[in-house]
Amino acid sequence: MTIKTLDDLLAEGVSGRRVLVRADLNVPLDKQTGAITDDGRIRAVLPTLTALTGAGARVVVFSHLGRPKGEPNPQYSLRPVAARLGELLGAEVRFAEDTVGDSARSAVDALADGEVAVLENLRFNKGETSKDDAERGAFADQLAALGEAYVDDAFGAVHRKHASVYDVPARLPHFAGRLVLREVEVLSRLTGEPERPYVVVLGGSKVSDKLGVIEALLPKVDRLLIGGGMCFTFLKAQGLEVGTSLLEEEMVQTCRNLLERSEGKIMLPVDVVAADAFSPDAAHDVVRVDGIPSHRLGLDIGPETVAGFAAALTEAAGARTIFWNGPMGVFEMAPYADGTRGVAQAIAESKAFTVVGGGDSAAAVRALGLDEKSFDHISTGGGASLEYLEGNPLPGIAALED
Ligand code: 3PG
Ligand code: MG
Repeated sequence: MTIKTLDDLLAEGVSGRRVLVRADLNVPLDKQTGAITDDGRIRAVLPTLTALTGAGARVVVFSHLGRPKGEPNPQYSLRPVAARLGELLGAEVRFAEDTVGDSARSAVDALADGEVAVLENLRFNKGETSKDDAERGAFADQLAALGEAYVDDAFGAVHRKHASVYDVPARLPHFAGRLVLREVEVLSRLTGEPERPYVVVLGGSKVSDKLGVIEALLPKVDRLLIGGGMCFTFLKAQGLEVGTSLLEEEMVQTCRNLLERSEGKIMLPVDVVAADAFSPDAAHDVVRVDGIPSHRLGLDIGPETVAGFAAALTEAAGARTIFWNGPMGVFEMAPYADGTRGVAQAIAESKAFTVVGGGDSAAAVRALGLDEKSFDHISTGGGASLEYLEGNPLPGIAALED
């Protein structure tokens, strides 16, 4: 099994050729203003784009943004993303108001060598995410007609069996972009024989989203530190009361089984920040996990937990390899950001090989003003990096293999 790379394509010569680049430009947007709150995913695709434009390719970029339901929805337009991409490239970027229609065709036709066009959101079309092979295939035919070669640099979407990820590469010569290659190279270090101790930190809101990765990682890791909204279902499984905190009742028994099987590898919070309401202005205090008031909800891990997690991550006997996915609390609200900040800082300071996985944790690193360079790798893939670590087949990678 081999995968051709961007360098193979460049070696063929791309001057004047229309090259389709699937990027993951699914960036977080401010709910009120619609402004891009973190442009990390746009910056991550620049090396591939500039390599192509520098070699004279006519570059056609497509991506999804959010989860529109198969029809145009202005809230999820890629227009602001195209504008930001233009700023970062320092060049004008053409924007097509549809994905495969008249606007897309004329934007592509108008491209000169070395220029870039961005098409409107792939998910404004039912065919993109359809479970029906024929419907997806028909949309993929239209996409493929726009270019002569296909480069996948959308690591964050390789776990999706979508037309732009899975079906287009079957129709065109296909190549892995720089970002996809780098992500796979780094994550394969975590699935091979990571230097021990290997410590994984998981957060985020739902246990159900992380169950697969927890089960896959438990036998491989030395320690699994759990924070974020999902910790409350684990605390409940230990027989504690969690007030009005996020709770997945139907997962409690599963968590109990995981704790029993975990040979003491799972570390849970010992204190949390409990608030009257899901609001930055709500009254809140640090409480022990066995003393969460019945009317309050936990929105962050507490300082003693941060200290315990930090010790597991940084002390002499601490981690040599760290993977972190998911915030420890509601870091977007200042009163509940200390847990995520503290854990992120500990990871940044550790001597381990450190990988941050996930849209949210990557955004947290930047939002909290931490230096990205203090981490060995910040993945652009949330679900994709977890599925890679779980060992699940990734349709977007499989589609690149010959
Ligand atoms: C992500 O943000 O994880 C990727 O862009 C994939 O988005 P999706 O979960 O909506 O498919
Ligand atoms: Mg996601």
